[in-house]
Amino acid sequence: PLVSMREMLHKANEGKYAVGQFNLNNLEFTQAILQAAQTEKSPVILGVSEGAARYMGGFKLTVRMVEALMEEYGVTVPVAIHLDHGSSFEMCAKAIHAGFTSVMIDGSHLPLEENIELTKKVVELAHMFGVSVEAELGRIGGQEDDLTVDDAEASYAIPEECDRLVRETNVDCFAPALGSVHGPYKGEPNLGFDRMEEVMKLTGVPLVLHGGTGIPLKDIQRAISLGTAKINVNTENQISSSKRVREVLAENPEMYDPRKFLGPAREAIKETVIGKMRDFGSSGKA
Ligand code: G3H
Ligand code: ZN
Repeated sequence: PLVSMREMLHKANEGKYAVGQFNLNNLEFTQAILQAAQTEKSPVILGVSEGAARYMGGFKLTVRMVEALMEEYGVTVPVAIHLDHGSSFEMCAKAIHAGFTSVMIDGSHLPLEENIELTKKVVELAHMFGVSVEAELGRIGGQEDDLTVDDAEASYAIPEECDRLVRETNVDCFAPALGSVHGPYKGEPNLGFDRMEEVMKLTGVPLVLHGGTGIPLKDIQRAISLGTAKINVNTENQISSSKRVREVLAENPEMYDPRKFLGPAREAIKETVIGKMRDFGSSGKA
């Protein structure tokens, strides 16, 4: 069933595992991720960026596509459909009205006070509809869709500010920027685990790790042990699926039926997602 992230993330914190947020890019991504979740008996969060929603035909169409596939596959595991990096109150409201069960309001570019004001407003609306909310502080580097943050702008969240934001806004989960990056890493990631521990101690809410692509398993496990309950992955599925398309087309230069290369691409996504669910420990938890 389509549910908010609230309960799944609390269970994840208690059980010391993390639920994956896998981003949707098109129909094949949606099929692959739902099939992986059902096969693995894992809860799952479907991340939808504003750019991806635009590409797929809007929020409503995305929700209906997810609902129809869940019915078709007889999905029994908990699934949340979550607006990723929501850019404004209006966008969050639009997603909520279209049937999203969760939203992120990304006010991380704003001064603290304004981020708190905006996040609070979104939480008030979302909670009326039983929709969960994620907020962010500090700035996650790298690029995703419309969002680009260069190295100089990227910054680590300050634990005291995190505590204030969570207390004053009543968000359900929280993404402190602690050195993770959207897209491939240049070298090994350098995550701020000391601060992560402090933020968890101060706020007590499930933490979210963005930029899940390319983080070594030992760091994933450490983050989970410190209170990370949600890990976002997009680039890794994009890389594995486009790699498969390149291989198939290179072997079959005459091929033109998209089903013949998008089908294998879908399989590649499914394999990648299953691998992540096992790494995150969410397999068998639904
Ligand atoms: O919000 C989405 C994620 O943070 C995706 O990050 O593309 O580096 O895996 P990634
Ligand atoms: Zn992100």
